[in-house]
Amino acid sequence: MKEPVFREAVVRLENTIRRLQMNDYSGHDWWHTWRVRNLATYIASKENADLLVVELAALLHDVADWKFNPDERAGFEQVKGLLVVNKLEKYTRPVITCIRHLSFKGAGVPDQPETLEARCVQDADRLDAIGAIGIARTFAFGGYHHRPMFDPETKPIMHTDFEQYKNTVSPTINHFHEKLLLLRDRLHTPTARRIAENRHQCLEEFLQRFMNEWNGSDFLGMGE
Ligand code: ADP
Ligand code: NI
Repeated sequence: MKEPVFREAVVRLENTIRRLQMNDYSGHDWWHTWRVRNLATYIASKENADLLVVELAALLHDVADWKFNPDERAGFEQVKGLLVVNKLEKYTRPVITCIRHLSFKGAGVPDQPETLEARCVQDADRLDAIGAIGIARTFAFGGYHHRPMFDPETKPIMHTDFEQYKNTVSPTINHFHEKLLLLRDRLHTPTARRIAENRHQCLEEFLQRFMNEWNGSDFLGMGE
């Protein structure tokens, strides 16, 4: 396929995904996909990965997610259908390889991205889970799922299997300990690791401030 024709196919796919994800309020909306695409293609360009595969996988990564499908197979079928309809079917296999093991499945469950392209997309998705935007998404998700913001009596759990992680109903602050603070050290590419430093610090500072305000240590002892 010639380059301009191919670009048109990506734009058509992008428009379909944008429509599909328009009404999401759980932190997995179109703009999350848009940011992941930007991050993933940046990382891919620095890491010499296949840009097209990475872009397609980034655009499609949440279409296949277990949270939005009755099962994993249904998600992959939808991804395949979207690629076929847009005449991009020859990318089905490398794209599915990228998104198959993308999701975080618990603190004690190892990640296993199989290709350089898969590592670029997973890193990009995880960078959007930390930093200021990561914090905003986490509270959006918590509110959407009716979780308390914080409960000092409920301690974080380091999940050792996906079933346990999937069924958790912990308060939102616990998610920082159960996932977000662990992400920096689970990134694969040097490019993503560099971007993560600042975003990780933002999480640490936010948690510190949150606890200081909760415990009153930012005003107790201030004097008159
Ligand atoms: P992945 O992108 O690895 O599949 P998820 O889609 O489960 O991860 O999570 C993406 C984002 O959704 C998280 O980074 C977080 O912002 C939010 N999220 C997911 N699970 C929870 C939770 N239990 N509590 C609060 N936020 C959550
Ligand atoms: Ni995502």
